[in-house]
Amino acid sequence: MGPSTGFKKINTAVFISGTGSNLKSLINFSKNKKSPINIKLILSNRQSAKGLRYSKIFKIKKKFINFKKKTIAEKKTLSVLKKNHINLICLAGFMKILSKNFLKNFDGKVINIHPSLLPKYKGLDTHKRVIKNNEKFSGCTVHFVNSRLDSGKIILQEKVKVKKNDTPKSLAKRILFKEHELYPRAILKIFNH
Ligand code: GAR
Repeated sequence: MGPSTGFKKINTAVFISGTGSNLKSLINFSKNKKSPINIKLILSNRQSAKGLRYSKIFKIKKKFINFKKKTIAEKKTLSVLKKNHINLICLAGFMKILSKNFLKNFDGKVINIHPSLLPKYKGLDTHKRVIKNNEKFSGCTVHFVNSRLDSGKIILQEKVKVKKNDTPKSLAKRILFKEHELYPRAILKIFNH
C-alpha cells in the first residue's frame, strides 16, 4: 500500500498504561495525509492512565480493560478489537505481556516501542541498568511483538548518547523525545515501502 491519494488507512488501536506521550505523537502522526494509520481506539489496563485523556481531546474511542485475570482480559480485548475492525495494534508504554494465544489473532500486526537498544536491556528499569553498567549509548527500538518479552523482529532503532552525569530520569527524558519521532518512522517503514 503506497501513500497515494485516496488510500485506505489502517484501523489502529494504541494500548497504553501510563502518560501516553507516544500515543500523542502517534495521534499527531495519524493526522498527516501521508500516514498509513487511523487511530480508532485507545485501550488501557489502567483506568487512571493519564494518556486516556487524549480520548476526549482528540475524540477517539477509549476502553479500559482490567488485566488482573489475563485470559478473560484478552478475550474482552479481542472482542473490542473485532468490533472496531482493528487491523494494527501499537503498544505504547503498555506494561502487560500479551499471550501467544492472543497474538496469533494478530500475526505480524502488533508492534511495540521499548526504551533501549534491543536486544540489550529488555524489561523494566532499563535506564537505571544502562547507567549502572556505564554504557556509552542507549536508545529506543520499535519491534514486532511476539510472546517473549521485548524479543520480536526489530523494525527501527535510534541511538542516544549517555552523558556522564545522566540520571535514569534525565536519560529517560532524552530517549522519550527520540521515541516520539521513531515510532511514526517505523510505521512508515512497515507500510509505505
Ligand atoms: C516509553 O518510554 C516506552 O518506551 C516505555 O514506557 C514509556 C511510556 O511513555 N515502554 C516500555 O518500557 C515497554 N517495555 P509514554 O506513556 O509517555 O508513551
